[in-house]
Amino acid sequence: MKKIAFLGGGKIGRSMMSHVQENGKAQVAFVYDPFLKDADINGVPVVSEIRDEMFEELDLVVECANADVVAQFIARALKYTNFMPFSMTAFRDDALRDSAKAAAEQHGHMIYLPHGAILGLDGIFDGRSELTEVTVETIKSPASLGRADTEYTVLYEGPTRKATELYPRNVNVHAAIALAGIGFDKTHSKIIADPSVNTNTHLIHLVGKGIDFTIRVSSFSEGGVTGKYTPLSACGSLDRVLGGSGFQFV
Ligand SMILES: NC(=O)c1ccc[n+]([C@@H]2O[C@H](COP(=O)([O-])OP(=O)(O)OC[C@H]3O[C@@H](n4cnc5c(N)ncnc54)[C@H](O)[C@@H]3O)[C@@H](O)[C@H]2O)c1
Repeated sequence: MKKIAFLGGGKIGRSMMSHVQENGKAQVAFVYDPFLKDADINGVPVVSEIRDEMFEELDLVVECANADVVAQFIARALKYTNFMPFSMTAFRDDALRDSAKAAAEQHGHMIYLPHGAILGLDGIFDGRSELTEVTVETIKSPASLGRADTEYTVLYEGPTRKATELYPRNVNVHAAIALAGIGFDKTHSKIIADPSVNTNTHLIHLVGKGIDFTIRVSSFSEGGVTGKYTPLSACGSLDRVLGGSGFQFV
């Protein structure tokens, strides 16, 4: 049976852990989360330190903590195994992205980039050579952006690189679109705090030679940074990465 580990045992991590324990596709070796008081989650040990040898014999490490944790562990983990990051804003750092890609290639491992809160990253990636203009607009409640605005407020408008620096926990969608499409400098971001909504909404517009896509995704916000859809999406991505048999959308 495949063996996996999680960096971060919050909302997304726990959803994936329960899912994999229910479907029996993999054994979870440990959860690294120094901020949890629990000694275990559903019988999986919670550890507060990582030694590199803990990555040996794993088939996959899943990051669901924050962008700093991606920066800290991606190259170390890729020496031994595959890596799936959810904190995509980490890749605004070109040097980190390049070194992660180089480590994956050198050691023959994969970096699996999950679609997370949105849909269609695979299709955007496939059409990227023809894309000329990409915009991503996100509307969230002030609370989910860690703010207390009482009226509709445009917080940021400009290149995605700066958006991901200003709101690293809230604009993973922007980072994912930039990575799949035309990059962090050419992708245009807009971030809005709207006290009248209880959803996370992302409006994505992609234009290119013979291409015009609009993607609108809205998902109920249950508090925290993650909406209703992402845990479902994360479990689907994990299933695809772990493999098996039967139908699979590619
Ligand atoms: N790719 C996407 O579309 C997408 C969508 C939603 C959330 N996210 C990102 O996924 C990540 C996890 O989201 P969540 O909703 O599970 O968050 P969460 O706040 O529920 O859980 C995060 C967990 O990480 C732990 N943590 C914090 N610092 C850590 C560290 N240095 N080392 C190890 N663990 C640490 C926390 O204790 C917490 O248990 C966040 O970075 C979030 O921004 C990505």
